[in-house]
Amino acid sequence: MRCLTDRVLVIGLGLIGGSLASALRSHRICRTVIGYDRDSEEMATGLRLGIIDVAAEDLLMEAAQADVIVLAVPVKAIESVLAELLPVLRTETIITDVGSVKGNVVKSAKALFGEVPPRFIPGHPIAGSEKSGITAADATLFEHHKVILTPLPQSDREAVTLIARMWQTVGAEVLQMDVARHDEVLAATSHLPHLLAFSLVDTLAREQDCTEIFRYAAGGFRDFTRVAASDPTMWHDIGLANKSAILQKIDEFSAGVQRLRDAIETEESQAMLGIFTRAKAAREHFSKILSGSAYTQNMKIKDATFFAQPGGQVQGTIRVPGDKSISHRSIMLGSLADGTTEVTGFLEGEDSLATLQAFRDMGVVIEGPHQGAVKIYGVGIHGLRQPPGPIYVGNSGTTIRLLSGLLAGQAFDSELSGDASLSKRPMERVAKPLRLMGAQVETGENGCPPVKIKGGQALQAIRYEMPMASAQVKSCVMLAGLYAAGETRVIEPAPTRDHTERMLRGFGYAVDVAGNQVSLSGGGSLQATKIDVPADISSATFFMVAAAISPDSDITLEHVGINPTRIGVINILRAMGSHLELLNEREVGGEPVADIRIRYAPLKGIHIPEDQVPLAIDEFPALFIAAVCAEGETVLTGAEELRVKESDRIQAMVDGLKILGADIEGTPDGAIIRGSEMGGGVIESHDDHRIAMSFAIASLRAKGVIEIHECANVATSFPNFVELAQQVGIRVRKEEK
Ligand code: S3P
Repeated sequence: MRCLTDRVLVIGLGLIGGSLASALRSHRICRTVIGYDRDSEEMATGLRLGIIDVAAEDLLMEAAQADVIVLAVPVKAIESVLAELLPVLRTETIITDVGSVKGNVVKSAKALFGEVPPRFIPGHPIAGSEKSGITAADATLFEHHKVILTPLPQSDREAVTLIARMWQTVGAEVLQMDVARHDEVLAATSHLPHLLAFSLVDTLAREQDCTEIFRYAAGGFRDFTRVAASDPTMWHDIGLANKSAILQKIDEFSAGVQRLRDAIETEESQAMLGIFTRAKAAREHFSKILSGSAYTQNMKIKDATFFAQPGGQVQGTIRVPGDKSISHRSIMLGSLADGTTEVTGFLEGEDSLATLQAFRDMGVVIEGPHQGAVKIYGVGIHGLRQPPGPIYVGNSGTTIRLLSGLLAGQAFDSELSGDASLSKRPMERVAKPLRLMGAQVETGENGCPPVKIKGGQALQAIRYEMPMASAQVKSCVMLAGLYAAGETRVIEPAPTRDHTERMLRGFGYAVDVAGNQVSLSGGGSLQATKIDVPADISSATFFMVAAAISPDSDITLEHVGINPTRIGVINILRAMGSHLELLNEREVGGEPVADIRIRYAPLKGIHIPEDQVPLAIDEFPALFIAAVCAEGETVLTGAEELRVKESDRIQAMVDGLKILGADIEGTPDGAIIRGSEMGGGVIESHDDHRIAMSFAIASLRAKGVIEIHECANVATSFPNFVELAQQVGIRVRKEEK
């Protein structure tokens, strides 16, 4: 590789300076690395260990000849070092530093030069350890760490680029930030924790029996105080250099400790659990962000591919995860109820977790989920608090649409946003009726997210005739109706899932259902209850279709919700000739449940009755696979809603099935599918969980390997799909990047 520059002078051969010098050499970023340290021993060690090429005998002479100077001295020493160099510095020399406070470095440069020179680029590698000195130098120290550069308006672009490339070449990720913002962020994320660690150890060490305390202090103490072994002078300097931001953070922290102290003193369990559960969720969320696998913003970072081998059949008895629609609603209504709601069977998928997090952000204490168990300490219908920022709901259409209705009735402003796929989905369908109720709702470009809601509006009940059969729109209007004066009535063009109505009743709220009309009056309250979430029929569908298409299959799916508004898939599969039994039918918490046994039988094509479409709306990707495996033609009409799901599901299935060689044609509101053979191929799932899972089961009847891309979102509704699929005999495996 060509060198980026000729002579780099590193002043200060501590952990950071030494590690950078070493990395510059090992990556051959410049021709010569010159090291300088006040302590000549450190320079000698640097030479001996091969960390530097040259030890600077005469600092000023080396500074005069250097192309790049890195100031790796303690923050407080930067001004005096710069003052010493000033007489010999050439204008073309690029200067940077590694101090963890930037405001004071910029101030020093201004004081000395009159204005910060264009080729002085302040920087801060966020790397280090409690070790110090050149013997701790490590050429890999910056790999996968962040380096923040804080260039100023007058900074020379070329100089910024060179410093950025220097850090990137040693393996760091380079970010740019405003000086003041940098100092504020670092006060919170680095300076405060270091100072607290020093303070905690010092406080405990003062106690009489401190030896005992330290002797028995195990993991917690050790983890919390590791950084108290850091360099005291350095932290002294940082404490003063970033004084105002640090004082602000210490005050905020002290107030937080005081709140916890009060809660313990008064034995307020809910307040204590609130602090702990919020912190635990936030901590897990951070560590997931750091490992690139959170369910929020960075969901796109992860990537998963499914490889499905052809052939096989399915056998066994399994329980698929909890119903997504019911899981969302359990958190929403549990949060608004008076009292504590206990949920079992909760779906621990990314979508329902997004709802759970949203309510935590609005001040609700929620314990769990732990193996499907969730405990929600309801705050009452008017008890939600303004979230600290926009609510991010990831891929979840149900969260954003239902929450829009609920938030329209709150006293505070709010904003809802989602991932790339959700950001393309229509939100005016909920914004319009909410505006008719007097809500102030704004959607983004083309009526898509973000959704911005102005709080404090007096809502009026409406009578709303829905232009499309959508349970999300119906539920949104009903949730807003809880806060509206008068009776809100929704009229459906066709029956859609009625979990909101059922669950509201379960929470003791009067809901009237007559024919295709649902109504409720605002101003009531909800009473906490117990909810047992049945297994999701939409997830069970993949295994129902798997058994229906592969000879010799026999599978039983336990405890599946068979709400009459969800059983389109059962009706359609039966009409196609499949051998499907409902066993052990019962009712659990207001929802009908059964075990579903399905055995292979040859399928035939049908014209799918349009009244079944809303009842099977999420099941069509899998049903398309069944149709390809059936004899004759299957025709789907009246299903234009499929085009605005997590992907355009008609297009995604038509494209994918054509790649496998199936005989299929898309129409504006459905498809015509003829029974045909499927080969192998590479399929795009368009980040849509149900498209990904449908092609995985297609492999049972395919003649070649099916490779399915963009499968990470399977975790939104069915986190253990691959494991369960393998368990029953589907030869699918997942590769994650
Ligand atoms: C859902 C309603 C349906 C469905 C979605 C969940 C719900 O959406 O597709 O997966 O929980 O209310 P639409 O209301 O857009 O049909």
